[in-house]
Amino acid sequence: MGDRMKAAYYGRYGPPEVVQIRDVERPTPSDDQVLVRVRAASVNRADLDGLKPKPGFVRLFMGLRAPRSHEVGIDAAGIVEAVGPGVTRFKPGDEVMTDLFAAGRFGAFAEYVCAREKAFEPIPPGMSFEEAATLPHSTVLALQGMRLRNGRTFKSGDKVLIDGASGNVGPFAVQIAKAMGAEVTGVARGDKLDFVRSLGADHVIDYTAVDYTRAGERYDWIVAVDAHYAVRAVRRALEPNGVYLTMGGDTGSIFAALGGSLVMSRFGDKWTGLMLWWKPMHRPDVDTLKELIAAGKLKPVIDRLYPLDQVVDALRWVEDGHARGKVVITVSDG
Ligand SMILES: NC(=O)c1ccc[n+]([C@@H]2O[C@H](COP(=O)([O-])OP(=O)(O)OC[C@H]3O[C@@H](n4cnc5c(N)ncnc54)[C@H](OP(=O)(O)O)[C@@H]3O)[C@@H](O)[C@H]2O)c1
Repeated sequence: MGDRMKAAYYGRYGPPEVVQIRDVERPTPSDDQVLVRVRAASVNRADLDGLKPKPGFVRLFMGLRAPRSHEVGIDAAGIVEAVGPGVTRFKPGDEVMTDLFAAGRFGAFAEYVCAREKAFEPIPPGMSFEEAATLPHSTVLALQGMRLRNGRTFKSGDKVLIDGASGNVGPFAVQIAKAMGAEVTGVARGDKLDFVRSLGADHVIDYTAVDYTRAGERYDWIVAVDAHYAVRAVRRALEPNGVYLTMGGDTGSIFAALGGSLVMSRFGDKWTGLMLWWKPMHRPDVDTLKELIAAGKLKPVIDRLYPLDQVVDALRWVEDGHARGKVVITVSDG
């Protein structure tokens, strides 16, 4: 029997409680794969959406009745343990981070991850594994939400609204928009507004009290981590030539936003729609993010840390809406 490791496992769809820690076989890297000893991982909405598929139609790809893949987690940071013969960019001992989505797989909540080298990048210099594990998925999404597929973005002084500013992607989006010189408004629940202000937002809106689409203010760029309002309503809150893009939502709002990108944006001066150009671990974007980090303009935001054995509590904390920023899962180096 080969080497073993502890890893999060789920065999049926459901709440965080379906996840167990199991003793499984440790993978071996082949071809262009890298084996990494995980030191920290972070929770993303994608993890919860994978446990209980959202939007519902993704079951077509993940398995109709039960998940085909039993692995959980996408973001991790750790130390390269071994590399396959085709690997050119990494060697044992290198400190790396990954969004495993870039290699089309899961399994970050484990003592080891193994995936193609294109899914890995060196961690930013001087950064801890816990901090680095917060970055790969959410910062790339945040940065790619600041521009359209054709590269169009906003300019310094423009008014940018981040709808969903307090979770995984939002806190990074607020910081990146500020770094680009925007006047930033962050939307979140009332008790998280101080947190959103602390990220640098110029204005905050409590979505439980105010519907920003009806508040009379207009924005040059609106990024929603989830579609919380009808596209028609959001268009009211856009300046002429304004942009509204949503990263996700439920099945109905995703198809509505998709229609917006394909049809409504062809007429009139405003672009509205779904972000369809996400490229996980896209190297030029990772480099841009590292420059922002080196300049002190982008910082990881850790809400809490949980050991791997308490992965269910970590997922539950996020599922219940308590998190302000990222929740990190730590893996001992023993
Ligand atoms: N397009 C793509 O290719 C692509 C790829 C990967 C992921 N995604 C999507 O990216 C998104 C990632 O989101 P995330 O991880 O940042 O989510 P998250 O951490 O769950 O954050 C959700 C945010 O929405 C806020 N919120 C909740 N209900 C709201 C409401 N009714 N009105 C306004 N705000 C509300 C929350 O505020 P409070 O916590 O203050 O309540 C929080 O700030 C997901 O939608 C995912 O599906 C898209």
